Amino acid sequence: MDAPTPVDWLRTRADFPTLGRKIYLNTCSLGALSTQVRAAVNRHLDLWEEYGAAAWYTIWLAECAALRAATERLFNAAPGSVALAPSVGVALSTIGSALDYTQRPKIITTALDFPTIPYQWLARPDVEVVMLPSDDGISVPLERYAAAIDERTALVATSHVFFASGTIQPAREIAALAHAKGALCLIDGYQAAGQIPVDVAADDVDFYLSGGLKWLLGGTGIVELYVRPELVAQLEPTVTGWFAHERQFAFDVASFSYAPDARRFEIGTPALAAVYAAHAGIQLILEHGVAAIRQRELQLVADLVGRLREIDCALTMVDDPQQHAGIVMIRTASHAQIVSELAAQNIIVDHRPGHVRVSPFFYNTEEEHAILVAQMLRYR
Ligand SMILES: Cc1ncc(COP(=O)(O)O)c(C=O)c1O
Repeated sequence: MDAPTPVDWLRTRADFPTLGRKIYLNTCSLGALSTQVRAAVNRHLDLWEEYGAAAWYTIWLAECAALRAATERLFNAAPGSVALAPSVGVALSTIGSALDYTQRPKIITTALDFPTIPYQWLARPDVEVVMLPSDDGISVPLERYAAAIDERTALVATSHVFFASGTIQPAREIAALAHAKGALCLIDGYQAAGQIPVDVAADDVDFYLSGGLKWLLGGTGIVELYVRPELVAQLEPTVTGWFAHERQFAFDVASFSYAPDARRFEIGTPALAAVYAAHAGIQLILEHGVAAIRQRELQLVADLVGRLREIDCALTMVDDPQQHAGIVMIRTASHAQIVSELAAQNIIVDHRPGHVRVSPFFYNTEEEHAILVAQMLRYR
């Protein structure tokens, strides 16, 4: 097989007008807007203007199907295994409503997961949430999962990449530990898909979530939920709607039967502008190739970390670059002030408690890092 043509990363910058005006190092909060995504949203608006509701059957439902299929490609997932939802919280509600907690009342999550995961189950009086601690704020040792998962565990729900440390978790090992005790495994890949390879089949996870917002460059309003095909028929979400019906357009008010594929996890009419944006974002990622993006990301993170260490910034991160994604956490008590002062200089980063968070993506450059780090000198 021919080697893929190397991507000219500098040229990709022309697709992102923001980069001409700002140093944008905040993809883990919100991916930069590309001309392709803007054009896709405009295409939706043009279709709306031209056809009105006539666009539904032939064009818009096909676009939803194309987004599910593109996601399946990205996740290495079987056809029919991806559903669309408006947010991770909604997708979790649907899954949460399909689990049986009578024999297995425990949900295991960790102190480093995004709060929308524990909140989903902390709000349920019938569920016992076990939150695995992290000693260093960077990672959670596998032994903690092994010790906590038991025959009373319904689900292990945790992140592929932790949002406030950038650590990549071993999804395959966590899924294997869950399965060994008959529990299910949900991986929140919102901070992973697009910047590191995802293979739901090889990792043997039961649920995998991602969305447009960050590393898939599609903006707000759409997340994608993978459900392992063998599991789909066993789960009947009670948080539901007409998009989950086997015969959606029969308009049969008297009876409800679930769609045979992952669509049974959908609820209602999706935000179509978001569907167009999410699809264009994933297409861009697939075009560049996640393996190539990851290689570039490793170079960029090494460059940024090297420059920050040179000026003695304290970083919260694992030592092994292979276990670390494109999120760099700089420890400081003045995080909010620094982020707003940098924004005034047209340098866009973010903060999380006790840290400035910097997240380079393939469209960033070493020169941008140098400018950021020169500013950071003021705050040492
Ligand atoms: C890992 C992770 N999960 C979930 C979310 C968001 O969840 P929701 O779609 O419910 O807003 C975020 C950030 O916005 C995140 O970083």
